[in-house]
This record gives sequence, C-alpha cells and structure tokens, in this order.
Amino acid sequence: MRKLLQAIAAVAAIACGMAQAEPSIQTASTSPAELDYLQQCSGCHQADGSGSATNRVPPLPGSVGHFLRSAAGRAFLVQVGGVAQSPLSDAAIAALLNWLLPTFDAANLPASFTPFSAAEVAAARAHRPGDIAALRESIATSLAADGHRVARY
Ligand code: HEC
Repeated sequence: MRKLLQAIAAVAAIACGMAQAEPSIQTASTSPAELDYLQQCSGCHQADGSGSATNRVPPLPGSVGHFLRSAAGRAFLVQVGGVAQSPLSDAAIAALLNWLLPTFDAANLPASFTPFSAAEVAAARAHRPGDIAALRESIATSLAADGHRVARY
C-alpha cells in the first residue's frame, strides 16, 4: 500500500511538472481524508500544503482559512479545478476540506466555521465559474477590505 501511494504521489508530482523528494506518507494513523489529500492533491500542493511559486500553486497555510469568511469564498474552495474535477465524491471532498482547513490553516479559521457537507459540495461543484482567477481576485479584494489577506502567488 505504501509503495502504491508513493507511486501515485510521484505520478501526481510529474503530472504537475515538479520534481519532488519522496513525500512523507504515513499509513498507520492516516485518515481517509488525509490519504485523499496525499493521493489527489499533494503532488501539486506538497504534503505540507506549501505549494510551489514556480508552478503557480498557492500556499494553503496562512491563507486558505480566510476564504471561509465569504459565501463566495466557501464555494470557491470547492470550485477550483483540482477539487471540482477530482475523482472524489462530494462526501469525500467535504471530508477532505474539513480535514485540510484546520490542518493547514487553523490560525485563520473563523470561530464560526461550520464543516462542509456533501450537499454543499454538490451545489458548489455543479456551478463552474468561467474565470476562476478573476473569481479569486474579486473574493480576495473583498476579504482584503475586511483585513483578511489571502496569499499572492
Ligand atoms: C495539477 C495540480 C493540482 C492538483 C492535483 C490539485 N491542485 Fe489545488 N490548485 C492548483 C493550482 C495551480 C491552484 C491555483 C488556482 C488554479 O489555477 O486552479 C490550486 C488552487 C487550490 C485551492 C485554492 C487556494 C487559493 O488560495 O486560491 C485549493 C483550496 C486547492 N487548490 C485544493 C486542492 C485539493 C483539496 C486538491 C486535491 C483534491 C487539489 N487542490 C489538487 C493545483 C492543483
């Protein structure tokens, strides 16, 4: 299983155009959501969520939690291509985001954070924004007006 996961992560890293050191993958106490992250996301986002400036993959720590402060921002987290177009079910994506947000950006989670449900993911996923970069920019601008700065990358 470990070898399989490493192979998947390596392929994901290659697909993302990155040379990557062996990712740290644990199997003993790894939750299904964390495994999904390692298999479906870490090739681009890195195991620690730090992303890649060269490949224009935004860092999650210190940033991603702010998106929860707006309804459009919550939906955006589901609508980015890597999430919306992943092979994961709506329920698996909900669980993945509910793991990812406190894991990578607990500091910026609003106190009122309510977990994603499969139904919320399905509704957001059904709507494909035409220009995801422009959508992020408009969300970032309104968050910045309230003093919440998401990463520039
Ligand atoms: C092929 C590379 C790739 C994969 C795989 C990928 N992402 Fe991404 N992700 C990106 C890039 C690049 C962006 C920047 C927006 C864009 O271009 O879509 C991004 C944006 C994001 C964002 C928004 C962050 C921000 O600050 O704008 C989140 C959240 C995210 N990804 C989560 C995930 C999750 C969860 C998975 C796995 C299910 C995943 N991504 C898989 C490359 C990837």
